[in-house]
Amino acid sequence: MRTRAIAGVKVSAIGLGAMPMSLEGRPDEDQSIRTIHAALDDGVTFIDTADAYCISDREIGHNERLIAKAISSWAGSETIHVATKGGQTRPGDGSWQQDGRPEYLKSACEASLEALGLESIWLYQYHRPDPKVPFAESVGALRDLQDEGKIQLAGLSNVSIRQIDEASEIIGIASVQNEFSASFTASEPELRHCEKRGIAFLPWRPLGGIGRASELGDRHRAFSEVADECGVSPQQVARAWELAKAGNVVPIPGASRPETIRDSLGAAELQLSDDQLRRLEN
Ligand SMILES: NC(=O)c1ccc[n+]([C@@H]2O[C@H](COP(=O)([O-])OP(=O)(O)OC[C@H]3O[C@@H](n4cnc5c(N)ncnc54)[C@H](OP(=O)(O)O)[C@@H]3O)[C@@H](O)[C@H]2O)c1
Repeated sequence: MRTRAIAGVKVSAIGLGAMPMSLEGRPDEDQSIRTIHAALDDGVTFIDTADAYCISDREIGHNERLIAKAISSWAGSETIHVATKGGQTRPGDGSWQQDGRPEYLKSACEASLEALGLESIWLYQYHRPDPKVPFAESVGALRDLQDEGKIQLAGLSNVSIRQIDEASEIIGIASVQNEFSASFTASEPELRHCEKRGIAFLPWRPLGGIGRASELGDRHRAFSEVADECGVSPQQVARAWELAKAGNVVPIPGASRPETIRDSLGAAELQLSDDQLRRLEN
């Protein structure tokens, strides 16, 4: 598998987005562990998770515990980098709420350390700015956590260029995770800003989301046309297109089945021609 860098650390050019294995409609644990192992067997060294990937706050950390279990039962676990997030809650009605108070972020980080079975989290991302809390105060909590050795790198998610710059005054920012896909390109300015600043960009919902990924070729004809030319799936073309955007992009396709993540990972070796990329951009 090709590699890319997050704050100078080499990771697989495509990571695994683990969210679909913990939300409504999730598979049983056996299938989830097989999905994570399939990704690791095929060279994934980077997994994205969050404490809030669960059905309700009663099982907060569900996805982190699943990942810890899968990694501990896989040979070579020391080479895997796990990025998690804090700052969102799941009241249990299917909604996502923000809590960016520094004291909340610090207690959430402690809980993530326990769920992941770690003493220090490799990359800790502030999940979504909380409009009730000054952004700098929330980011200040990440700096405190880094000073205490509880996190190694800090990342942001769902942020604007202004927020990236504001946070960078407080702590080095290793990654930004914003929505970006063929259906949602509005965060291209943040992607380019990160490229200029040497910050990794992790496009979330790279296939258009749970339940919508299979429609990608129907919604975007160019993707199915290029897929036919290359003899691969439109989903694989979508990932190769994102990789070709810039060297700081690390896609994190979500999956809950071994077949889908294996297919997505083929994009790391898929070379699209300039003409194909131009048609996809259009
Ligand atoms: N920071 C944030 O606010 C935020 C928000 C949303 C997501 N995320 C992160 O981004 C990751 C990706 O987002 P996502 O999971 O919402 O959406 P996604 O990656 O766009 O789509 C996930 C769905 O795509 C299907 N899929 C994957 N590869 C496929 C392939 N090659 N062919 C056909 N179908 C394929 C999977 O199906 P199966 O389930 O059948 O395998 C899965 O359900 C998440 O897992 C999470 O880590 C972050």
